[in-house]
Amino acid sequence: MQVKGHAAIVTGGGSGLGAATARALATAGAKVAVLDVNIDGATKIAKEIGGLAVKCDVADAASGEAAVTEARAKHGPSRILINCAGIGPAARIVGKEGPMPLADFARVININLIGSFNMMRLCAADMGKLEALTDGERGVIVSTASVAAYEGQIGQAAYAASKGGIVSLVMPAAREFARAGIRVLAVAPGLFATPLLLGMPQQVQDSLAASVPFPARFGKPEEYASLVLHIIDNVMLNGEVIRLDGAIRMQPK
Ligand SMILES: NC(=O)c1ccc[n+]([C@@H]2O[C@H](COP(=O)([O-])OP(=O)(O)OC[C@H]3O[C@@H](n4cnc5c(N)ncnc54)[C@H](O)[C@@H]3O)[C@@H](O)[C@H]2O)c1
Repeated sequence: MQVKGHAAIVTGGGSGLGAATARALATAGAKVAVLDVNIDGATKIAKEIGGLAVKCDVADAASGEAAVTEARAKHGPSRILINCAGIGPAARIVGKEGPMPLADFARVININLIGSFNMMRLCAADMGKLEALTDGERGVIVSTASVAAYEGQIGQAAYAASKGGIVSLVMPAAREFARAGIRVLAVAPGLFATPLLLGMPQQVQDSLAASVPFPARFGKPEEYASLVLHIIDNVMLNGEVIRLDGAIRMQPK
């Protein structure tokens, strides 16, 4: 679909990949709601792009519902949902202190996987009621997986499991929403230059970047955003997870 004039929701829009996507969507003419648990980050980006900042914990049913309601009141129902909210703490299943606390595993699944599902179910309900565009299209949902869904490293059990869940959610959702003309995809990024990676010591950054076959550097958040815009534009893309990773295959550690 053409982005111009449509309402879009970007979760995790206050930083990194989500912020770059919110900027790109606004530049392309979308009315963007920037959802983030960090309202300061969301407000900064929303101000910059003339969008709406909404405080939202994607893992919470009521918070997600309130945020979608607020975005709808300002921009109308969203045809576009981009799930970028996520966390990535590292911990071994059995570490020096003993088994990983179950609550730590559950927290990652709650935010990354259940949070993406929460926003998908709420936004898809809205999209289904909208008028169909060309080809009968009503909406598009893009979630953010990770190459860790396929090659999770030691210490990434919770993160990789949450991202694997996002990968597996794509097909049943795309099949279910096909009748409504709503497409569902995910992007699986490799290493991207966001506050997360840029906070590491330069030496670690250099060695991580060198592990990418080509181009041997971190991806730029704008490159992620550019793929998201292409996904929105290209109606034949559906039910797929696209790796965006410079051919990296993560090693065990
Ligand atoms: N940067 C990378 O190399 C990389 C690689 C693969 C996948 N990813 C995924 O991309 C997504 C974005 O990551 P990023 O690198 O931009 O990180 P980031 O930390 O810069 O941004 C993530 C944003 O999500 C928000 N957030 C966290 N928990 C939330 C919650 N419960 N509700 C709402 N918002 C919440 C944070 O406040 C933050 O603004 C994540 O899902 C991450 O797992 C990133």
